[in-house]
Amino acid sequence: MNQIKQICKCNICGNVVELLHAGAGQLVCCGQPMEIMPEKEFDEGTEKHLPVIERSGNIVKATAGKVIHPMDEDHFIEWIELTIGSISYRKFLKPGQLPEIKIETSDLGEVIARTYCNIHGVWSNNKVSEVSNGKINFNQFEKVDIRLAKVIEASCLEGSDKLIKLTVELNGETRQILAGIGKFYKPEELIGKRIAIVANLEPRMLLGQESQGMVLAAHDEQSLSVLIVDKEISSGVRIS
Ligand SMILES: [Fe+2]
Repeated sequence: MNQIKQICKCNICGNVVELLHAGAGQLVCCGQPMEIMPEKEFDEGTEKHLPVIERSGNIVKATAGKVIHPMDEDHFIEWIELTIGSISYRKFLKPGQLPEIKIETSDLGEVIARTYCNIHGVWSNNKVSEVSNGKINFNQFEKVDIRLAKVIEASCLEGSDKLIKLTVELNGETRQILAGIGKFYKPEELIGKRIAIVANLEPRMLLGQESQGMVLAAHDEQSLSVLIVDKEISSGVRIS
């Protein structure tokens, strides 16, 4: 059965075609049915064909093989392709060139890479490794939900000289947050203050108590200051 994007080869003249729309008929070249080339997903032997995909921020890169495939006159990667979401990018290569394709995109859709070796056929991979360059893109930043919360109760957490237990209010919702600020604040100093918290952090247990968020603070070796908003802004609003 034909499938869109399948690669077919004529074993007589060497024509290679890609199917852009899957019909019912069989592709024929030189009077014979064309061979459908399987997309291999595992490397065999010593040569490396399986594309390696890395994403670093908005850059998606694919290379032919963990160990770069030879690019000799008689044996080389003819093309390397990246499909990101619904857009395909294909780079045609010559012997001696680096079998690599690099695309800048903000599309977070599925990524598939394919390589075509003139001797060994087609390989395909969809596993993406995230490579951090210390930067995040806007979509990643948007996932951190920083909100304004009003402190309505504060007390020292029993058994700790460092943790203060805060009850904060966000637009009518109350939650408990444990903050490691006890050496720099007395609990009563915080009551009534409008502070910045990370609201979508997974809850975690500290000394048997649940903390449902994180208080944002600036600190150096000598001091610590909780981020406090100095105007009457409604609690629960997003900080961006
Ligand atoms: Fe090869």
